[in-house]
Amino acid sequence: MSLPAALQLALTEARHIAVLTGAGMSAESGVPTFRDVRDGLWAKYDPMTLATEEAFAEEPDLVWAWYLRRAQLIRSVQPNAGHRALAELGTFKKVDVITQNVDDLHERAGSRVLSHVHGGLFDYRCFDCARPWQHDPEIPDEIPERVSPPRCRACGGWIRPGIVWFGEVLPRRAFEDAVEACSTCDIMLVVGTSGIVQPAGSLPFAALERGTPVIEVNPEESRLSDYVTHWWQGTAAEILPRVVTIARGQVD
Ligand code: OAD
Repeated sequence: MSLPAALQLALTEARHIAVLTGAGMSAESGVPTFRDVRDGLWAKYDPMTLATEEAFAEEPDLVWAWYLRRAQLIRSVQPNAGHRALAELGTFKKVDVITQNVDDLHERAGSRVLSHVHGGLFDYRCFDCARPWQHDPEIPDEIPERVSPPRCRACGGWIRPGIVWFGEVLPRRAFEDAVEACSTCDIMLVVGTSGIVQPAGSLPFAALERGTPVIEVNPEESRLSDYVTHWWQGTAAEILPRVVTIARGQVD
């Protein structure tokens, strides 16, 4: 299945494209999503024991070890054809990538990321004084169940990953920039997100409310599918290279 002709034209003519990505964007690189019923991280682990400030305050060693395992996985995988397609799109259109993903696969594919609305796994900072900790933690091959986090050199507090945990507010600037991009783009792509987590899930509506077309790329129906202009069923690595072809004005 291809894109309706009117949307193909809109994509070819668009000068400014906002792209919201979620965990499905990195799935074909080998990074599990959160809500897949079989392999999703939140199907296997309880986010309340791993992804809250309270959890880290109570069990810093357990939480740090879990994020070290995620860091180890992300360091071992590569951007997929979908990430590479978005980077290519950015070479001939203004592309604002807004990602909920805490990995760095967009950057490694060559995209400029406008907003990491849920922070970055590798943007470590002090849990107490919030000073950035600009180091790569040592990651042993076999990561035990518990590992003590490093200590802040300034205040001695525990170092935490730069992820937005449940109950925390989003980085203000990143979210404001994302709203601005969705409100001013000519067309928006929404790739690999369930649309469940707010306020990120509301970003497509900033475009839709202005009459801007929104194309969703997802193999499964999501919370957003009923509202978007067009749900293009398929995976990021399958569909995004075709988006580039159409954006170049070539026949899909
Ligand atoms: P979810 O796990 O909620 O949703 C992943 C979406 O990706 C689903 O709609 C899948 O159908 C879709 N998907 C799976 N494989 C795909 C593929 N190959 N190509 C395209 N789409 C695919 O992940 P998010 O919506 O990103 O928060 O979750 C939002 C937030 O919830 C995350 O940022 C995370 C989590 O708690 C933080 O880390 C702060």
